Amino acid sequence: MLSISVILLSALLAGASPARRATCSPNILGSNISITNGPLEAGFSSNAPTVVSQPISQTIPEFTVATSNFNGEFQLHKVTNAGLTLTNTGGPSAMLPVGSTIFDPSTQSWALQCSSCVRSGNLVGAGCFVVSHNDGRCLNISLSTTTPVGSPVTVGNCQAIGGSINLYAA
Ligand SMILES: *[C@@H]1O[C@H](CO)[C@@H](O)[C@H](O)[C@H]1NC(C)=O
Ligand SMILES: *[C@@H]1O[C@H](CO)[C@@H](O)[C@H](O)[C@H]1NC(C)=O
Repeated sequence: MLSISVILLSALLAGASPARRATCSPNILGSNISITNGPLEAGFSSNAPTVVSQPISQTIPEFTVATSNFNGEFQLHKVTNAGLTLTNTGGPSAMLPVGSTIFDPSTQSWALQCSSCVRSGNLVGAGCFVVSHNDGRCLNISLSTTTPVGSPVTVGNCQAIGGSINLYAA
């Protein structure tokens, strides 16, 4: 019985932190970046705080990488308004005031976990997970045909999403 419990526990632990296997965090504090997935990137809704997908523009950054309350993690501020930061609301991701009184600081802190952090032109991180400190879930810029350009960027199970985000510093 003991060995079965141990096996179950190991399986649980292995499944609980898939994103932690990624190998590097790019050294991009203070950089202005695009967070991309294939032909799309995370951008901003024109009439709501919601973060939505938009066609990629590697040379026009959306986010400034700033320090967070948690070691080795970052806040992702709006390039044009450092008072707003990427927030895991539990639903669609949104740009909300830094230090929001509604959401815990952990919802505004993100780990950048990439399979490569070798700078190559504008590319500064490849094969990345953008992991919320709050719930360990990952930013999900959907490429599904059922979620066209302009669809909300959400968070979801990291393993299901896969580490396919590339980070470009303009
Ligand atoms: C980032 O963008 C802001 C706003 O355009 C600009 O003021 C700042 O100099 C940029 N920082 C870097 C490191 O390029
Ligand atoms: C990613 O987002 C798309 C569109 O909202 C959704 O259909 C898909 O289930 C999400 N994936 C995960 C793993 O949450």
